[in-house]
Amino acid sequence: MYIRCGSPLDLEELYKLEKMIFKTEAWTREMLKMELLINTNSQTLLIEEKGLILTYLIFRKDLMEYQILNFGVSPSKQNKGLGYRILKNFLENIETNSPVFLEVKKSNFRAINLYEKNGFKVFGERKNYYKDGSSALMMSYYKTT
Ligand SMILES: CC(C)(COP(=O)(O)OP(=O)(O)OC[C@H]1O[C@@H](n2cnc3c(N)ncnc32)[C@H](O)[C@@H]1OP(=O)(O)O)[C@@H](O)C(=O)NCCC(=O)NCCS
Repeated sequence: MYIRCGSPLDLEELYKLEKMIFKTEAWTREMLKMELLINTNSQTLLIEEKGLILTYLIFRKDLMEYQILNFGVSPSKQNKGLGYRILKNFLENIETNSPVFLEVKKSNFRAINLYEKNGFKVFGERKNYYKDGSSALMMSYYKTT
């Protein structure tokens, strides 16, 4: 099992995984393509094992500021530390004095817990943010050392 950067060649496998994880709220193929292929500020980190992608984290960097755009673990591999591992790897490799922002569904306790354990703090809320009408919590992390 190892961590690598994603490329446009991963598009179809990532799209399949995205639909398995997020179902009706999954990103479209076009949205994934945009980040993998077109947007030069975006990067994807993947955990792969035996040729299969198990986890992905898509982020964008604008100047010194990062935004986590998408993050998922294959359903059968959730709760085994993979999300923790890829998030930690991402945070270890960004520059110091860099803020990281993300949005997470208010009811997604597992994700919120994982972010809080890694130093993220809630700084706001967007009402009616998701398709199902639920709110998003806005979280941030600031790397100092
Ligand atoms: C949310 C999600 C990304 C988390 O990834 P995961 O691999 O399932 O979670 P992990 O196994 O890494 O973390 C589970 C727990 O173990 C902890 N943990 C795991 N490895 C650890 C380690 N080495 N040291 C300390 N804590 C660790 C995590 O902090 C977390 O804490 P908890 O036990 O109190 O819940 C994943 O479940 C997922 O894809 N969910 C569906 C999609 C989604 O919600 N994406 C996020 C959108 S914002």
